[in-house]
Order: sequence, then structure tokens, then C-alpha cells
Amino acid sequence: MRTELPYIIIFSTMSIDGRIASTSGFSKLSCPYDKRRQMLLRCTSDAIVVGGNTVRHDNPLLTVRDVKCHKNPIRVVISHSLKFSKDANIFRQPPKTIIYTDNSSKIEIPQNVEIVTLKNTSICLIMEDLYKRGIRKVLIEGGGKTLYRAIEERCFDELRVTVSPKLFGNGVSLLDGKGFQDDEIQELALYDSKLCECKNEIYLTYKKR
Ligand SMILES: NC(=O)c1ccc[n+]([C@@H]2O[C@H](COP(=O)([O-])OP(=O)(O)OC[C@H]3O[C@@H](n4cnc5c(N)ncnc54)[C@H](OP(=O)(O)O)[C@@H]3O)[C@@H](O)[C@H]2O)c1
Repeated sequence: MRTELPYIIIFSTMSIDGRIASTSGFSKLSCPYDKRRQMLLRCTSDAIVVGGNTVRHDNPLLTVRDVKCHKNPIRVVISHSLKFSKDANIFRQPPKTIIYTDNSSKIEIPQNVEIVTLKNTSICLIMEDLYKRGIRKVLIEGGGKTLYRAIEERCFDELRVTVSPKLFGNGVSLLDGKGFQDDEIQELALYDSKLCECKNEIYLTYKKR
């Protein structure tokens, strides 16, 4: 029987050389129009997914801001270490946050946070669990290690990337993993390409073949 999964969109903004953060952790790549696109996508999603490093490095809120939206998607964080500051922004205000982990240590958790321990935190198994909780559309925002896992497992429907006109030379890659063997290389289908309203960025939508 086919397992039910939510519709999964990966959204990220990268430099021309394919980096989503510089070696120092700088990751403010989006123009205001790109931010708006991200907010609109968040608004139409049921859950936003990020990896543990993104929470530690960026301390994001992961809420919808600056566009009219009647609800915030739930936040989903994936982590083995469960090493988070109690003061992290995602713990300070609604909506609910679910942390998926394969670590059975007990940690003190703030209100509004649920820890789900799975034997195997593959992205597909996490998505399956989210589907069972009524989540039908998921936005995976990063970072590179989390996106690598999602692509490696082919656990996505669309990849939307904005190319920001910057060159980082090094840093966190859009996909950060050991790399695919030649016979594992994935080829996607270009579905849409747009010049951003700022006239300096390109917004690309690919679908999984
Ligand atoms: N430009 C953009 O659009 C954008 C968007 C998002 C993030 N970023 C940048 O990306 C950088 C972080 O990327 P990153 O590649 O270092 O890390 P990441 O993908 O944010 O987080 C990696 C961490 O997530 C956890 N994780 C991911 N998949 C897991 C799995 N299947 N099972 C268990 N744990 C899992 C682990 O957390 P633990 O270490 O807690 O065990 C792992 O170390 C930041 O600098 C951020 O600014 C950029």
C-alpha cells in the first residue's frame, strides 16, 4: 500500500555559486520580493521544516510576517542532539513546534513544544507522521544538511530556488551531504522560471520527475 505523504515544497535562496550561507554564517540573501514569496508560501503551508543548525545559527521565528495571513503553519525541527537554547525564538511564542528526534534523552521542553522520538528520523518517515497529524502541505526551508536528506530520499515534490546575485566562494551548500554516485544523480523538470520584480534575482521552480 502506498504511504500517504503531504505535498512537499523545498524553498531556498542561494548565491550564484550555490551557497545558502557564507563561511561566517551570513545568510541574508533575499530581496524584499523574495521574502514576500517566502511568506506567501509559508501562509499556504501547514508546516515549516528546518534542521537543528538553522535554529542554532539563525534563531528564526518561522512565522508569517508582512503579508495578510490568517494562520501560522506549525514549526517542525529535526535534531539528533536536541541541543537548543531555551530562549530560542521558536520556543518563545506560538505556533506549536514539533521536534523530531532519534535521541531518547529526556530534555526540559518549553510549553507549546512536542518532542516526537522515532527510531529512524528519515525525512519520509517524518513526513508520514506529519500526514497522520493532518498536515497536507509542507515547506522545507533548510539548511543544506536537511535538504540533502530530503533530496537523497526523493522526499519532495517541488524545489523552488531563488538565485541571489552574490558569490560566497565557500560556505553551506544548498545540499550538504556526501554527494550522489553517478547513478543516483537526480534530474528535475524545470516547471517555471521568473525574473524577480527586483530585476536582479531569478526564481526557479523544479518538479521531481
Ligand atoms: N538561504 C536560505 O534560504 C537558508 C535557509 C535555511 C537555512 N540556511 C542556512 O543554513 C545553515 C544551516 O545549514 P546546515 O546544513 O548546517 O544545517 P541544517 O540542515 O539546518 O541542520 C542540520 C542538523 O539538523 C538535524 N538533522 C537534519 N536531518 C536530520 C535527520 N534526518 N535526523 C536527525 N537529525 C537531523 C541535525 O541536528 P542536530 O545537530 O541538532 O543533531 C543536523 O546536524 C545556516 O547557516 C542557515 O543560515 C539558509
